[in-house]
Amino acid sequence: MSNDDKYPTESGRRRFVKGVVGGAALAGVGTTGAVTVNSATTSSGAGGGSTQAMAIENTAGPAPRGMPQIPIEIDSEGYLKGVWPEVQEITEGGVTFQVAETENFNGSDVTYSSEWFQYCGVESYQGIQPDYESDNYFVSGANPAYTWQQDAYSEGDRLHVDDFSDYKSWGNGIGDSGVGKPASGTWRSQDSEDTIPIQVVRSERIQQAAQDDPWLKASTSQGFIAWLNKCTHFCCVPGYKQAADAAKFNAENDVYCQCHQSVYDPFTITETLFVARPRPEE
Ligand code: FES
Repeated sequence: MSNDDKYPTESGRRRFVKGVVGGAALAGVGTTGAVTVNSATTSSGAGGGSTQAMAIENTAGPAPRGMPQIPIEIDSEGYLKGVWPEVQEITEGGVTFQVAETENFNGSDVTYSSEWFQYCGVESYQGIQPDYESDNYFVSGANPAYTWQQDAYSEGDRLHVDDFSDYKSWGNGIGDSGVGKPASGTWRSQDSEDTIPIQVVRSERIQQAAQDDPWLKASTSQGFIAWLNKCTHFCCVPGYKQAADAAKFNAENDVYCQCHQSVYDPFTITETLFVARPRPEE
């Protein structure tokens, strides 16, 4: 079945959810609006509504909130994976639909849900469907921004822990060296026409913070942290130490979005409340 078959193009909902203007309007909705969205989604979409996510903090610029974290695990051979929550069926208002959600994730008391990623049109991506089949590995994209990554990987290669072994000293001339070693990539996008962009950074700061933070202990591994790399402002793909002009905005050691100069701190994780968009009807 093609993607078009699955999500008919004549659907007004699909057109609406893909629009960045809709994204901006939604970003301004507080918790009061969540009730309306919730009641609308149970009858026509799947999931969505008021959602509490763990996110790398937005520290400057017009972005309304941080970008959602993707919990990491490293397999026995050293390859990096993004954990996908448990798939289950729930019934609300007489309608049954699938969700991907793990309560008390790794004993952290945090409920990890695929709804964290339902904004900026990502809610309509195949990879965000709870039961989309994927091995969940982070793989290198077609044109990574980092020279080291261009040398180490071809498109589709899995990110491996050994390639980050110089993370305590790595630098690329943007900001300070030794803050963290990054890679960009994709996740749950192998057989999909939509690509879910992710970024990982390995840093001693994360390693240290994870020692006494239950959530970071549960969601990071060996100093690696990952997030969905879609700016919560107008959905551009930001970068950590990718843009030389980040220094003009004091963002040379942070994640910087070139579109409208939003800045995110990948070493500060905050709880963020927002209104997740429903997935289109299946
Ligand atoms: S700051 Fe506008 S899209 Fe990122």
